[in-house]
Amino acid sequence: MRLSVNIDHVATIRNARGGTHPDPLAAALAVLEAGADGITMHLREDRRHVRDSDVERVRATIAAPLNFEMAATEEMVAIAERLRPADCCIVPEKRAELTTEGGLDLLRADPFLPEAVKRLAGAGIRVSIFVEADPAQIEAAARLGAQAIELHTGAYADAAPADRPAHLAKLRAGAEAAAAAGLACHAGHGLGYDTIEDVARIGPISEVSIGHFLVGQAIFEGLPGAVRRMKALIAGVRG
Ligand code: PXP
Repeated sequence: MRLSVNIDHVATIRNARGGTHPDPLAAALAVLEAGADGITMHLREDRRHVRDSDVERVRATIAAPLNFEMAATEEMVAIAERLRPADCCIVPEKRAELTTEGGLDLLRADPFLPEAVKRLAGAGIRVSIFVEADPAQIEAAARLGAQAIELHTGAYADAAPADRPAHLAKLRAGAEAAAAAGLACHAGHGLGYDTIEDVARIGPISEVSIGHFLVGQAIFEGLPGAVRRMKALIAGVRG
């Protein structure tokens, strides 16, 4: 199971003082050196964390896959077509939210979404759609022509430990539905040391995307150390 590290919040810290430190590109290189399998960046409409130049520099510098998270808008599709990251993960985006609050609702028609998927795929990008672990959403992602889904793990990660088994069962069913539909299955949101192992036990999940916890944990053990420990927890389950 690959670990793609989301470095958005390195930019959040940089932006707090308006300077250049800490540099998201330096963070990307450090986490890859520590064993991360890829880098995720979410360029939001309001550019509240990473900026266009951050994504451009990371894309131009790293050899590992860049997973570009984006809303399905003309502006973001055009940027992705220009930068051609390995992966694009289409997410819902609301201006006032603190973070992505839920999966994309594919049962509510977004007239631009089919065009977005088609253009991204046409640019040779692997398209993933961030959805809840709901078979109807997963089947809709397959119908749209996505090659992968990313399961929203936020409700599981935020649940009280006693409630987690029910959330895990849903995630497992979602991952199995994705595999049955021929889709690669990724997962992310809110994951940390105490939740990663149960997610790693869900066989069809081939990639996790983790950001906030690792950047927060960097305060205590450094970003490379946090990435190494997360990778070790995954390896403990997957070998
Ligand atoms: N996956 C998606 C689609 C996201 O929007 C986010 C948050 O930007 C993540 C994964 C990573 O979540 P976290 O920062 O909580 O690890």
